[in-house]
Amino acid sequence: MSASQQTLQELIEKGQQAFRNTFGYEAEVASFAPGRVNLIGEHIDYNDGFALPMALSMGTVVMGARNKSQSTADIITFSEKIDGTNRIQFDVKALEPSNPAISNCRWANYVKGVIYHFNHNVPGFNAVIVSNVPMGAGVSSSAALEVSTLLFIEALSTKRIASNDERAKICVRAEHTFAGTPCGIMDQMISLNATANHALLIDFRSLESWQIPFMSKSLAILICNSNVRHKLSDGEYGKRREQCSKALELMGLKSFRDVQPEHLSVLYKANDQVLINRTKHVIEEIQRTMDAAEALKNGDFKKMGELMKQSHTSLRDLYEVSCEELDALVDVANSCPGVLGSRMTGGGFGGSTVTLLETQCVDTVISNIKKMYKEKYNREADCFVVLPSAGARIIKL
Ligand code: GLA
Repeated sequence: MSASQQTLQELIEKGQQAFRNTFGYEAEVASFAPGRVNLIGEHIDYNDGFALPMALSMGTVVMGARNKSQSTADIITFSEKIDGTNRIQFDVKALEPSNPAISNCRWANYVKGVIYHFNHNVPGFNAVIVSNVPMGAGVSSSAALEVSTLLFIEALSTKRIASNDERAKICVRAEHTFAGTPCGIMDQMISLNATANHALLIDFRSLESWQIPFMSKSLAILICNSNVRHKLSDGEYGKRREQCSKALELMGLKSFRDVQPEHLSVLYKANDQVLINRTKHVIEEIQRTMDAAEALKNGDFKKMGELMKQSHTSLRDLYEVSCEELDALVDVANSCPGVLGSRMTGGGFGGSTVTLLETQCVDTVISNIKKMYKEKYNREADCFVVLPSAGARIIKL
């Protein structure tokens, strides 16, 4: 059985056993945080836009208990495909973002970053991490780890964080300063605030959010992991952020939400096609996401599918964050009967696509996608059907 097929109960049992075997006593505190798939609203969380993500049932469990030390954390991960060592020991009071010793073990950087930015007395503890979120698939395994870690250390300490907005911000700071990824706040917000059977419309200007019912027996959501991660991704994400800031600066604005036709004419005069394209994507994707939320509310799934297709075209041509493999996965999905719409999801340059389709067509669509992908790229596309699931929580052991 692959990790992604394990149920939460199985993850918990695996964690309890691993904790007992490693540390010789019982875990007392456990937290769970899910990965996510974004239905629409891509690359606009850091641009004051909207997104419409949903949580997956797959997530990360952090489980453990205090140890006898004042401030030593001893953590072991059982996640698949990690880089570096799977066990780390460190002093929770001696963390610094710039410490080069922490830089080459990515999973540990997220954990350390969250403890650092939690910024409160964390006692010495032992913990295990178990997860069934596929790594590097663009479904936020890192946010799941950050959020689960935060809930865990919050439960171990005496400090309570005031709100999920604050929790999400702590996790984002951890990611920026310890993992070096200049991400937005979407992944952490959905992991914390998701409700089963709903997608979450998030306004990133105000951080207000609305639960949008999203459940239909006749429709399914399919994630296809391209299993590619193009090297240029890290730098390119930051570059997109810089280009968007530059476009705003040229227009003399602080937010894309305030763009009026006269502002756009400034960009046209500057004749910078890249900035024009990025801006166009942001403005249109904001509108598409609001329209998509409306379509879901009205049960207009055909419209939802059309908007997803448009979103992909824009990400491919205007924002330039797709790649050949993702385009091929989207094209083959869109050509299958029963598919309402397909698009890349997440940061791009690899990772996954998300497809809205009729439940009765799932098996045929998956087999068409896998066949094309194997023939064209000699790679496997991992496909899984997902349901909008509940958000992060403490688990009673
Ligand atoms: C990554 C980031 C998010 C968001 C998406 C693109 O997942 O972590 O904050 O910017 O890319 O929508």
